[in-house]
Amino acid sequence: MCGIIGYVGGKPAVEVALEGLRRLEYRGYDSAGIAVVDPDGSLRTRRRAGKLANLEKVLAETDGWAGTTGMGHTRWATHGGPTDANAHPHVDCTGTVAVIHNGIIENFAALRAELERAGHQLASETDTEVVAHLIEDALSAAEPTVTIADALRVVCGRLEGAFTLVVTHSGSPDTVVAARRNSPLVVGLGDGETFLASDVSAFIAHTRAALEIGQNQIVEATRAGVTLTDFAGTPVEGRPFHVDWDVSAAEKGGFPYFMLKEISEQPTALADTLRGRLSDDGGIVLDEERLSEQDFRDVDKVFIVACGTAYHAGLIAKYAVEHWTRLPCEVEMASEFRYRDPVLDRSTLVIAISQSGETLDTLMAIKHAREQKARVLAICNTNGSTIPRESDAVLYTRCGPEVGVAATKTFLGQVAACLLVGLFLAQVRGVLYGDEVGANVAMLQQMPGLVEQTLATIEPVRALARELADAKAVLFLGRHVGYPVALEGALKLKELAYMHAEGFPAGELKHGPIALIEPGLPVVVIVPSPRGRSVLHGKIVSNIQEVRARGARTIVIAEEGDTDVEPYASHIIRVPRTPTLLAPLVTTLPLQVLACEIALARGLDVDQPRNLAKSVTVE
Ligand code: M6R
Repeated sequence: MCGIIGYVGGKPAVEVALEGLRRLEYRGYDSAGIAVVDPDGSLRTRRRAGKLANLEKVLAETDGWAGTTGMGHTRWATHGGPTDANAHPHVDCTGTVAVIHNGIIENFAALRAELERAGHQLASETDTEVVAHLIEDALSAAEPTVTIADALRVVCGRLEGAFTLVVTHSGSPDTVVAARRNSPLVVGLGDGETFLASDVSAFIAHTRAALEIGQNQIVEATRAGVTLTDFAGTPVEGRPFHVDWDVSAAEKGGFPYFMLKEISEQPTALADTLRGRLSDDGGIVLDEERLSEQDFRDVDKVFIVACGTAYHAGLIAKYAVEHWTRLPCEVEMASEFRYRDPVLDRSTLVIAISQSGETLDTLMAIKHAREQKARVLAICNTNGSTIPRESDAVLYTRCGPEVGVAATKTFLGQVAACLLVGLFLAQVRGVLYGDEVGANVAMLQQMPGLVEQTLATIEPVRALARELADAKAVLFLGRHVGYPVALEGALKLKELAYMHAEGFPAGELKHGPIALIEPGLPVVVIVPSPRGRSVLHGKIVSNIQEVRARGARTIVIAEEGDTDVEPYASHIIRVPRTPTLLAPLVTTLPLQVLACEIALARGLDVDQPRNLAKSVTVE
């Protein structure tokens, strides 16, 4: 949700910023802009509505910009439409201060009215622009020795809401300053150059040495590195970390879309999530554990909070957590969690699942949980992000960067990580014996191979997708862990192909949604293994017959050897045999491919679907 890069060093800032924006464009693509401070102290800006390519076109017609201090922004619009005027950077009345922003300044209307009363001319509809004018006031009101960082500190004291702000000032040509509160910001430390960015992908081509920045902090970046202070001006320390993937991971690697690459990477991503999780004594190992085993033993209830695809991973986890630990487990959409005042105390374990580690709804949910004394364990894919930092323990999914807006490989990583947490809880609480935990882990470790096998036979799904490209709607049905898989299949189709799609528990259909069935309507059914919960299997075969009898085109996902479904299936998609709780790791794959291929057949950009952004840092 808005991508930000700031740079100070020896290279042309416009080039560094554009390269960073290319990697950050997945965060928002409504408009893009750039600001560079030239060595003579003049501030130059350019911005354009639409994708980054529009800005690149303008810059190609511009004379070379010599400045080596600058910043760039790619926007996901919140306040004001995606126009040139609302694109960042925003400047003050003097044209010497430029600001880019990710987040929402909640009190901007009051601040804007105050600024306008004082004679400032505001040129956009954004919440961001007020910051440029407030900095202008802070600089002019203060002693001439006051720095741009001091001015930003004063202004942050007046802002409500969430923000990452990056500021360049013509009076400080060798410095870029930034502030963060509840919005992402990482520092890249190069050789004689420093980067500020929404995530490490923006500077990974230059350095893998990064610094995590805490909440409510100001960063002053120069070529030599950074100085960090809190909003009161007290010096603070960042947490250094090394980025354990390189620039090739953030490139398409010969695939036309990142999503296709990321789908194909799933066997490796899953194997990486599982790698090294078993200790010598057969126990499960988390990454950063600031909770004792006793804390886990004291847990009497589990909440899982997450959004979108991560929420679906949580719904799958519920079945395993309750089955293995015998603890009650509730799964909540993070955006609803704190508003319904859930019953939490120090014996509650809240598991927060987030690929980006920056989803503001999830972050606010865990803050609320910790205020109520609950323990928080994060499952996250992004090292250096906020949610792990604000949690008591973390398990990284280690799937590598995911650039396509639609989550694919990280969903598999999240499901696997949740299963590991379930086993970990069962182990420390003594509900499962070591050999039982080990047997489950051994089954999990077979899954990357089965994922690979499933992807190797996925070609017919692409052909089927092309046939379905003109369908008006698609329904997805599942039972048990197949129900969240159905929800995930429907979400993928909505976000990528802009088609009406719904996921239902198959048994619920007859209570209303069956009225939607009309001749030819595609209905995808995720069938549980006949060898596992056989009652479920029999029931869903009846459900397939019910929709088929009403004319639906039934697309059945069933494991190898399940012949019971054959008479009622218009199409069968086979997946390998797996234990019931692990089946989502393979049954989800055809649904990802189906949605992706339908979208491609409809001529859509599957990496950057309309209205969306990869990382949602507003509530
Ligand atoms: O970064 P997160 O995992 O917290 O993101 C949560 C959702 O916004 C995300 O899963 C979203 O639903 C995806 N676009 C789905 O493909």
